Amino acid sequence: MDKESATFLYDVCVVGGCGHVGLPFALVLADSGLKIAVQDLDEAKVQQVMSGHMPFMENGAQEILERVIGNNLWAKNDPSQISNSRYVVVVIGTPVDRHLNPNFADINDFFNTISPYLVDNQHIILRSTVYPGTTEKVKSILDSAGKRLSITFCPERIAQGKAIEELKVLPQIVSGFDDRSIREASELFSRINDDIVVLTPIEAELAKLFTNSWRYIQFATANQFFMIASQYNLDFYRIFDAMRYNYPRTAGFPGAGFAAGPCLLKDTLQLAAFNKNNFFLGHAAMLVNEGLPSFIVEELKKTHGSLSDKVIGILGMAFKANNDDFRESLAYKLRKILGVEAKEVLCTDPFIKDDSFHTLDETIKRSDIVILASPHDEYRDIDFAGKLIVDVWNYYGQGITL
Ligand SMILES: NC(=O)c1ccc[n+]([C@@H]2O[C@H](COP(=O)([O-])OP(=O)(O)OC[C@H]3O[C@@H](n4cnc5c(N)ncnc54)[C@H](O)[C@@H]3O)[C@@H](O)[C@H]2O)c1
Repeated sequence: MDKESATFLYDVCVVGGCGHVGLPFALVLADSGLKIAVQDLDEAKVQQVMSGHMPFMENGAQEILERVIGNNLWAKNDPSQISNSRYVVVVIGTPVDRHLNPNFADINDFFNTISPYLVDNQHIILRSTVYPGTTEKVKSILDSAGKRLSITFCPERIAQGKAIEELKVLPQIVSGFDDRSIREASELFSRINDDIVVLTPIEAELAKLFTNSWRYIQFATANQFFMIASQYNLDFYRIFDAMRYNYPRTAGFPGAGFAAGPCLLKDTLQLAAFNKNNFFLGHAAMLVNEGLPSFIVEELKKTHGSLSDKVIGILGMAFKANNDDFRESLAYKLRKILGVEAKEVLCTDPFIKDDSFHTLDETIKRSDIVILASPHDEYRDIDFAGKLIVDVWNYYGQGITL
């Protein structure tokens, strides 16, 4: 680390550091030998981390936590640790409000609140996904508070569940307003990965939103094609396999499935808002992806008639496979629709604790139709006893006709 580090107790303070982005990053930095402070408002998560337990599922994270906790990583809800850190990494994001518009209040309030804790010569890294122009806005808030700080935006681009592995191999985008800030941020990231790409802050903010919107649109394309094939009573996956067979230009084409979670839709909507609501592809992707649960239910009704005498089981409530994160999961939207249409809806998930859920065995035994919402590994070898399985993912390799 640079000579400025000598004057600080910690090398890095990760604010929002008990979350899905903050904690894996804090762990990987701590594992590289740096002294890390984790600042988080959520006392329960802080206690859990300090007792050496991951608050959520993340491959490879638990082992690192056990190695570093109390040695070179400490978690607290105490903003004064911000003042004692050379780098302050912020993972407070920009949510969208109920009108689907970005809500800047969180980040503005956050910087106004922590401003008194910031000291000269610190380096502030914005790491959450932000609305374009936010880095510049933050710089002006802190400049007008008279702080002499370096400010960079270095977006996180990991996929949940793969953070530990990906932090070490994915190129890191670093952006700042001057050479010194870019050099300082690059120095920190080089501890774990020296594949660095430099952009201006507005370019980096857009690079992150383009990345997530692109992924969301790719999923929507697959889901739209799935819907088209299904409406003609065709098995989408026979066509999908043929399209991809020995044909490099379709190699990255994803399968159909529930495309949800805390980032893809939110970031697509941020990009739409930034472009004055002119983002036809993004809005179309939202309609397709968010429409998939309802499409499945309507197709089932076409084939099987009313569902009002049927018990429907939903397997996997998390937003993605082998994960316990249920934020913005489309399985819940499916449950809501079926709550109106079906006799009863039984939900199950091995990773999510919810008193309203049922065991896997009971769900399968009592359901007339089973819908695989999240293809956890645990569901690989199940005896469905001849029941109808709706497998949009083609997880069982049997194709799909609804
Ligand atoms: N989850 C992902 O895979 C992913 C990937 C890339 C980027 N992002 C972006 O990163 C941001 C954070 O996402 P996340 O999934 O880590 O969210 P999260 O909810 O898991 O974590 C956020 C953490 O910040 C804490 N927090 C909130 N306000 C705080 C404050 N004022 N001071 C201290 N702590 C505070 C919360 O208690 C929580 O622990 C979002 O902008 C998201 O879009 C997420």
